[in-house]
Amino acid sequence: LDNGLARTPQMGYNSWYDLECSEAMNETTLRRVADAMVAKGLVTLGYRYLNLDDCWAKSRDGSGQLVADQAKFPSGTLKPLADYVHSKGLLFGTYTDRGELTCAGRPGAARHEEIDAQTYAAWGVDYLKEDSCNASTDHETAFAEYGRMRDALNASGRPVLFSLCGWNSWYAPVGRQLGNSWRIGPDDTNWPGILQNIDAMSGLERYAGPGGWNDPCLLLSATWSRTLRVTALQTRAQFSMWAVLAAPLLISGSVLDMEDETLATYSNEEIIAVNQDPAGHQGFRVLGGKLSGKSATANLWARRLSDGSLALVFLNVAQESLALTCNEDCFASMGLTGRLAVRDLWAKRQLPDITNTSFTAHLPPEGGHQMILVKQVAGSIVV
Ligand code: DGJ
Repeated sequence: LDNGLARTPQMGYNSWYDLECSEAMNETTLRRVADAMVAKGLVTLGYRYLNLDDCWAKSRDGSGQLVADQAKFPSGTLKPLADYVHSKGLLFGTYTDRGELTCAGRPGAARHEEIDAQTYAAWGVDYLKEDSCNASTDHETAFAEYGRMRDALNASGRPVLFSLCGWNSWYAPVGRQLGNSWRIGPDDTNWPGILQNIDAMSGLERYAGPGGWNDPCLLLSATWSRTLRVTALQTRAQFSMWAVLAAPLLISGSVLDMEDETLATYSNEEIIAVNQDPAGHQGFRVLGGKLSGKSATANLWARRLSDGSLALVFLNVAQESLALTCNEDCFASMGLTGRLAVRDLWAKRQLPDITNTSFTAHLPPEGGHQMILVKQVAGSIVV
């Protein structure tokens, strides 16, 4: 969407997989999350949005205006939370649904787009995610409903990043007309879900770019004190892949209890820089086939960056370790020949130059991966 926002994929926190509809999902906790995002250095790294997901809305008042659940948000509005979030140097996002009810059964936006957009602007909302539960699956209806919210947000006088949550790849070709990002698959509640959404991203490259992004869903964190959805290695694999896929980086795990290893994953500045590359090219699959349904055991993905280098992720999803090689044909398919300089983005060091146009990654099982940056050494001749 050409509203000046999301020129690079949005970065921040989303409350869903952290708090869902639990008692802990309330204003006090979210204020503490804002504090922790600052204290842990996440805001400085670019994680600017604190996004509240489902379960905040309770009802509508006599004039039709949304009222927040006062057991969670004592003022009955989101304004005090938005003000607090802004005072910490962050931006504030919230959630609605195009149907009568959200997925969790809270009031949705149907037929209330204008009044809701005005309410959000008055509260200081900078980001709106609009879900698709309890709504028509008909494409034309969905397009019209999302269009109504887009127009209402644009008319509200406040710049609001608009994130469509329609769980379906048909949004990709039209998403840019409606919003700044659009979900292309279902919830990624675990590792197989992540692989499914990686597969769904393949072929959608041409729809992504500054102002509008394909969205393969939230970042899952390994948090040992909670239900373990993914391992720490898989958290890291997802992060590497989301960088190459130019996907929104929305941390949806505990920030208050974040494991050191997970914080280190989300704090890798070189990988964030790949995700935020200004050219905004989405990466593509170079080797291997579909990962879900165990069709392929390994993949190589590549993303072209604005300085002429390529970011590569070699990913193993098999239950055994394996070696994956990119040979001369593989490099040629990416337009790379001659001597290549290589940097390992997790080891954070330069590797020996590739002189024979072949690179082999040795990958541990179930999410083992290597992420490298390759750049042709100018004027190089292979002897
Ligand atoms: C479904 C979405 O895909 C999730 O990201 C989350 O927003 C839930 N709905 C909330 O009910």
